[in-house]
Amino acid sequence: MNRRSFLMSSIASSTALFGQSSADTIGTGMIGTGNRGAYLLKTVLGLPVARVVAVCDIKPDRLDKAATAAAEHKPKTYTDYRRLLEDKDVEAVYIATPCDLHVEMAIAALQAGKHVYCEKPVGITPESIGRLLEVARNSNKVFVPGQQMRSIERIRQTIEKIQKEGVLGKVIMVKAQRHAADDLDHEGSSADWFFNAKRSGDVIVEMAVHNLDLCNWVIGSRPARAGGFGGALLWKDDPPGRTNMDGYTLSYDYENDVKMSFTQVFFHPNGLPSNGQFVHVYGTEGAVDLNRATFYKRARKAEPVVLVPEIKESNEAHMAAFFEAIRTGKQPPADMKIGAIAALTAIMGREAIYQKRLFTWNEMGVNV
Ligand SMILES: NC(=O)c1ccc[n+]([C@@H]2O[C@H](COP(=O)([O-])OP(=O)(O)OC[C@H]3O[C@@H](n4cnc5c(N)ncnc54)[C@H](O)[C@@H]3O)[C@@H](O)[C@H]2O)c1
Repeated sequence: MNRRSFLMSSIASSTALFGQSSADTIGTGMIGTGNRGAYLLKTVLGLPVARVVAVCDIKPDRLDKAATAAAEHKPKTYTDYRRLLEDKDVEAVYIATPCDLHVEMAIAALQAGKHVYCEKPVGITPESIGRLLEVARNSNKVFVPGQQMRSIERIRQTIEKIQKEGVLGKVIMVKAQRHAADDLDHEGSSADWFFNAKRSGDVIVEMAVHNLDLCNWVIGSRPARAGGFGGALLWKDDPPGRTNMDGYTLSYDYENDVKMSFTQVFFHPNGLPSNGQFVHVYGTEGAVDLNRATFYKRARKAEPVVLVPEIKESNEAHMAAFFEAIRTGKQPPADMKIGAIAALTAIMGREAIYQKRLFTWNEMGVNV
């Protein structure tokens, strides 16, 4: 039986169960109820398909807050995620803990027979991502990484125009960035782990994984090698003990020969032009500003063309797609493979910077 038919048969049996018990909601457990976890919880509570049956956090104040937010669903509270995974009422889990815990928790959840929505990055080392991939491949459960940009409809349609309609001709190069005016809050909710690269995977893996995934998506390939430079350039030892970078520049050479240039900084003054985040896609016929869905033809006096008009996007789309995949077997917008390739792209860039040399995809030794 292949993975899909296995999935479909498990859905069929759970649908039968729903029929018998007349419970038409999916029992959901939330692991990690900090900043992101609280947001996910709020979103899940707004989805009629879900019933929040359990919440878990090691910090009592956050656990209490989550239990209060979900009071209508009367969730059980846990401080040990392994106890939550033993709970038979939990069919699906959301994992929103610090990045170094994702792999261990996601593997345990899949092995306990739960569907998994795991925040990005799916992991912060190649070896651990390899282990998770293996477990996910041998599981009949849905796995969705928190790469929610994959659920932005306007971006999806713009990429379709580039890849299926060929508006750009052949894609040859991408220039992308993630620039912020200031450092992340030194006293914020995640300050106890975020600035420690051993826990976060460093800013490229923890944050830029979103932007790099967009690049992979529009390029339609994955990088073969990376080279770059960076470090803690401005916020040196600030906060004390900091091991995260605050600025870097990277070049990627993709397997399909597309070249990509990426920068991330935490010191781009707001008034300075070209701030924020963007993905500019260059092709033989011109360039597309991906986030604005706008095409600039490579001809004198050509007016910019909006490829896809603005769409009212739903903030819930990615979370809703997770439940839809569980209930109907529909392929989610992002799966284990997409999450793994995104994280590995970021790890590859990080290692090129740390090791001060070109770093190749194959060196990571992961069978994706
Ligand atoms: N998809 C997105 O756009 C997005 C946005 C923000 C954060 N994130 C991701 O979400 C995750 C959490 O980030 P955050 O900003 O919410 O951090 P946070 O520190 O605010 O929250 C993490 C929570 O996990 C809890 N926790 C730690 N160890 C635990 C354990 N063993 N068992 C149970 N709970 C435990 C902490 O007490 C804390 O409440 C990170 O992976 C981050 O990268 C994703």
